[in-house]
Amino acid sequence: MPAWLLYSVVSLFFVLAATALFFFTVTRGALLMRGVMAGSDSDAAHVYPIYSNLRLIRLIDFQPIIAAILLFQYDRLVSAITHGLQHMNLRGKNVLITSCAFGNVIPRVVNAALDTGARRVLIADIIKNELDHAQGKLLSHAGKIEFLQENAIAMKQADNSVSANVIFFLLHELPHHLKGQALKEAGRVLEPGGKLYLAEFHRPDLWVLRALSWTYFKVFEPLGLALWDTHDPLKQLEAMGGFSCERRTVFFGNFQIIVATKNPA
Ligand SMILES: C[S@@+](CC[C@H](N)C(=O)[O-])C[C@H]1O[C@@H](n2cnc3c(N)ncnc32)[C@H](O)[C@@H]1O
Repeated sequence: MPAWLLYSVVSLFFVLAATALFFFTVTRGALLMRGVMAGSDSDAAHVYPIYSNLRLIRLIDFQPIIAAILLFQYDRLVSAITHGLQHMNLRGKNVLITSCAFGNVIPRVVNAALDTGARRVLIADIIKNELDHAQGKLLSHAGKIEFLQENAIAMKQADNSVSANVIFFLLHELPHHLKGQALKEAGRVLEPGGKLYLAEFHRPDLWVLRALSWTYFKVFEPLGLALWDTHDPLKQLEAMGGFSCERRTVFFGNFQIIVATKNPA
C-alpha cells in the first residue's frame, strides 16, 4: 500500500474515532457520569449536555453535521411535516413545537405555520438555553412566537388549545416511562381535528442497516431502541385511543413520520 494511502486511512480512522469519542462524552457518557454522581433526579436529568450547554449547542448545530446524523434524510423528514402543515387550515390557530431540535426544522415549521395563517407558534423546551438558541434563528418572527420552558410530560397548555403539535426526535431520548406520558400530553393539548406530527427513528427493514442502527443505539442512545418494539409510538397512540394515525417510513424503514389526527370527542 502506498504511504500516502496508509496515512490517509490511519488519519481517517483517528478522525472518526475522535468524533465518536466526543459524541459519546457529550451524550451517553455524561449521563452515565451523572448517574454515579449526586444530582441526577431533576426533570432534565435525561437531557444530554449537547442540549443544555450553550457552547456545545452552538458548536454542534451546523446543518451539514445534523443532516449527516440523520443519514441525509433531515430535509425529507422536515418537508413531510411542513407539507402537512401547509395543507391544514391554521388561520387564527395556535401551533406548538414540543422540544427544540438542531438544524433548520424550527424556522421551517414556524414559516409553514405562519404562512398558513397560524396566529401564534409556541415553542416549548425543558432547557432554557435551547429556547434562547432557537430564538436566535427566529428574529424576524418576533411577536408571533412564544418560548416556553416546559416539560413535555406536563405541559401548562390548556386542553384542546393547539391545532398542530410537532415533535421532532424527542421520544427516543426520553426514559421509557416518560415516552407514553409525552404522547398523552401531546394529545391532550390538541383540539379535535388537530394533528400531531411525530418524526422519529424506526426499525430498519434492511438487516445491514438494522445491525448498524442497533450498534449506534446500544453505544450512544440506548433509550431509542424501545421505539422498535416495546415503545412503538404508533402502537402507543393507538392504545391510547382517540386518534386516527398514519405512519410513513423513509430510508429503508430507518425513520418514521406519524401523523395522528385527534378524533372529535
Ligand atoms: C428533540 S431532542 C433532539 C432532536 C434531534 N436529535 C436533533 O437533531 O436535534 C432534543 C431536545 O429535546 C429537549 N427535551 C428533552 N426532554 C424534554 C422534555 N421532557 N420536555 C421538553 N423538552 C425536552 C432537549 O432540551 C432538547 O432541546
